[in-house]
Amino acid sequence: MVRPLELLDEDIIRSHLKPRALEHIGAIYIHDRIDSTNCFLRSAIAESEVSGIICLAESQTAGKGRSGRRWISPFGHNVYFSLAWQYPSGPANVSGISLAIGVAVIRALTLLGISDLGLKWPNDILWKGKKLGGILIEVSGDINGPCKVIIGLGLNTLMSREEGAEIDQDWVDLETITHSSSPNRNYLVATLINETLPLVAEYDKTGLDPFLVDWRNSDCMIGKSVVLHIGGQKIAGIVAGISDDGLIQLDTGENGLRTYASGEVSFHP
Ligand code: BTN
Repeated sequence: MVRPLELLDEDIIRSHLKPRALEHIGAIYIHDRIDSTNCFLRSAIAESEVSGIICLAESQTAGKGRSGRRWISPFGHNVYFSLAWQYPSGPANVSGISLAIGVAVIRALTLLGISDLGLKWPNDILWKGKKLGGILIEVSGDINGPCKVIIGLGLNTLMSREEGAEIDQDWVDLETITHSSSPNRNYLVATLINETLPLVAEYDKTGLDPFLVDWRNSDCMIGKSVVLHIGGQKIAGIVAGISDDGLIQLDTGENGLRTYASGEVSFHP
């Protein structure tokens, strides 16, 4: 089935926003084509102190993924979303925010009737083990504050096998998950804003604590045999979960339970 294009529309998105999001929202920029929504916001907020600015695009020519990877961003169907916020405190005060955003995305998709979702540390959105979305957080600022945070979310809503051919892992889109009845795109974006923006606005006060239970309930790696790649190093272990500050805990056998702050996890065959 060919799904008609539903282009992003600021008025429609705003009409679905809840007061808890509207109170924090600034400008919404929507581009047909841009290098990267994260990069756009980085320049937009470089000289300002504005929070709650959102950038969306129909396509990205240089979409950025984690670990220097490219985020495949064809026109008109997926979601490429970035949100900027400035906190008075330093980066340490917003650590773990990427995990909290993962929880917010799961909440938004669950509200839209999507089930079987999971989180893969630190913040991949999976469906039945396949990648549905990813989050890229970029933090800048002084150690003592203020700091600026750009939260980028890419979500596959509809992508052909040809468009996704370059993706080097199993992936899925909402169209496949919902058997061609994926949510209206502007409504999907509004629901994502409703769940993420209030969280971001409060995060320097709440921290990760209120999101830990939900994160752990969605953790789809626990008990799995994995390899953690940190730079050139590979650490094998069984995932024991995440610590209260959002770090991954691996049972490494002889070396016991170890906690790591960064790295890429791959499932051990
Ligand atoms: C990942 O590698 O899993 C993170 C992907 C993040 C992609 C999004 S798309 C919107 C925003 N703009 C970017 O350039 N990247 C993020």
